[in-house]
Amino acid sequence: MTKLLDIKGLTKRFGPITAVDDVSFSVDRGEVLGFLGPNGAGKSTTMKIVTGFLSPTEGSVEVCGHDVAREPMAIKRRIGYLPEGAPLYGDMTPMALLQFVCKLRRLSADDTRRGIEYAVEKLHISNVLYQPIETLSKGYKRRVGLAQAIVHDPEVLILDEPTDGLDPNQKHEVRELLTEMAGKKAVIISTHILEEVEAVCSRAIIIAKGKLVADQDPLTLQSRSRLHNAIGIRLPMAQVEACTAVLNGLEQVTAVQTSAQVRDTVELLAVSANGLEILDPVRAAIDAKGIHVNEIFVERGRLEDVFRDLTFEVEGLKARPIVGSEVGNA
Ligand SMILES: Nc1ncnc2c1ncn2[C@@H]1O[C@H](COP(=O)(O)OP(=O)(O)OP(=O)(O)O)[C@@H](O)[C@H]1O
Ligand SMILES: [Mg+2]
Repeated sequence: MTKLLDIKGLTKRFGPITAVDDVSFSVDRGEVLGFLGPNGAGKSTTMKIVTGFLSPTEGSVEVCGHDVAREPMAIKRRIGYLPEGAPLYGDMTPMALLQFVCKLRRLSADDTRRGIEYAVEKLHISNVLYQPIETLSKGYKRRVGLAQAIVHDPEVLILDEPTDGLDPNQKHEVRELLTEMAGKKAVIISTHILEEVEAVCSRAIIIAKGKLVADQDPLTLQSRSRLHNAIGIRLPMAQVEACTAVLNGLEQVTAVQTSAQVRDTVELLAVSANGLEILDPVRAAIDAKGIHVNEIFVERGRLEDVFRDLTFEVEGLKARPIVGSEVGNA
């Protein structure tokens, strides 16, 4: 794999605020990196520096081997950027905007035509091409923003909350588009939608208060959840007491929680000690007592839990209780 983006020791201070604090990472061709963090963590600031819209207080950024601060023109052609909230020139039409950005990036007439055709088709904006952008709906503005980010077929794509404000169908299409383009580019998307990370990202970085606190593939990150390898059991209410007693009697189970209840069906979660696999002993113990269950499944873990655990402390928030309500004496 080729390193398309290389960030070293990046720090950005706004007066007394350190928005980005000594962040280093690189992104290879073929990677789709999910950039996560609570509000104000420094995601957008990092993206603005990477795309040359802000200069860093310290540190450096290289895109395809070119330094962002020293070679801004070389960067513009190689990077596509969807800013947060997708600010666009409101009085332009999408067509005028796309032609304008192609000109800025010095594309040939042929590449401009091909690029616009591709972007218009991918983002389904042919019906609004000649309507002033300020009169478009939020979702269409976002689509136009995405179109201008990909129109020059850049090697590095930086998308700040790309699916924010899109309807579920369009969210799905944008995720498919990202997956389709992923192999040839290095992509960074910031998002608060954790299922998006599971759906499209090959890697996830979490920052909190400007500091990098995790950098792993989504599955490994998920497995750091306290619910990794927990056993979910859906069963009739009448069986809950007996089942809870069985689960609490197992040394591999550290806690039993009620995670959901729909009418007289309950879902219990048996939390695994040390996150080890416990399906076999749990099933055997339940069977031995002749307890009827509707469904039994293994939890992979929840990215949301990991996100909260990793960012809570940094944010100065109090430790949170384990999800759901505990039952029994675990
Ligand atoms: N131009 C600026 N002047 C002063 N402070 C700024 C400026 N831009 C950003 N900040 C501050 O830097 C910090 C990081 O902001 P940033 O927009 O990068 O966060 P974010 O991770 O993108 O958050 P969100 O999830 O809300 O979009 C915040 O404390 C913000 O108030
Ligand atoms: Mg932001």
